[in-house]
Amino acid sequence: MKTVADWLIRVIDVSKHYVTGALKQDVLHHLSFDLTPGEAVALTGPSGSGKTSLLNLLAGIDLPSSGEVWFRNNGDAQCVSGLSERQRALYRRRYAGYVFQFFNLVPSLTVAENVRVSVDLNRVPDLAHEALERLHRLGLGDRLERYPAQLSGGEQQRVAIARALAHRPPLVLADEPTGNLDAANADRVMEMLLQQVREIGATLVVATHSDRVARGADRIIRLVPEPV
Ligand SMILES: Nc1ncnc2c1ncn2[C@@H]1O[C@H](COP(=O)(O)OP(=O)(O)OP(=O)(O)O)[C@@H](O)[C@H]1O
Ligand SMILES: [Mg+2]
Repeated sequence: MKTVADWLIRVIDVSKHYVTGALKQDVLHHLSFDLTPGEAVALTGPSGSGKTSLLNLLAGIDLPSSGEVWFRNNGDAQCVSGLSERQRALYRRRYAGYVFQFFNLVPSLTVAENVRVSVDLNRVPDLAHEALERLHRLGLGDRLERYPAQLSGGEQQRVAIARALAHRPPLVLADEPTGNLDAANADRVMEMLLQQVREIGATLVVATHSDRVARGADRIIRLVPEPV
């Protein structure tokens, strides 16, 4: 029997379906697993198997159709479905950091400003210096005043990593973070993501189609699509 301290996130019998008009589509089926503090997990499975859907449940962006997602915060265990809208918005912002396939940087803000937004939104001014240092460690020290359109894809993704980690979230979620990069950049970005996540002691869940990326993780959770 695990004690509460063994897990950061506990997924209990989670299912997810979407209803579009008269159509109901089952996507996730009775999933149960724990994420332990500091582990790196690769989420694999074919297109449409529900990787992004599961990340959205872990991030509190969406709620399960049935089952529960629990998270541990300063020793307390709480269920995401039990939070108010406002609490869930705070959970989403403070507890999780998100890295997307298409980087999603704010085009009108510089590299330094994109990361600063995360510091300001989360009201962690003490971490501003560390966030800037992280940009340097990610090899972006001479790019701070550039805009996203003036960066390569690999550079943009490194900025996105710095942004996702700026407030030191316990949970980092990455959705195909190397899906839009060539092989050399993909390896570099993934290596840096794993290293930086380890430095802040966060748990990482990375959805990926890449066996190379999955091999870099401590563990693989594979989603199998439901036969129709
Ligand atoms: N908001 C939504 N409303 C209706 N259907 C949705 C919604 N989000 C996802 N789906 C459907 O759920 C299924 C799973 O989608 P999801 O994006 O989670 O898969 P995925 O494993 O991330 O796929 P990919 O590898 O292509 O990114 C898909 O068939 C998709 O069309
Ligand atoms: Mg997806």
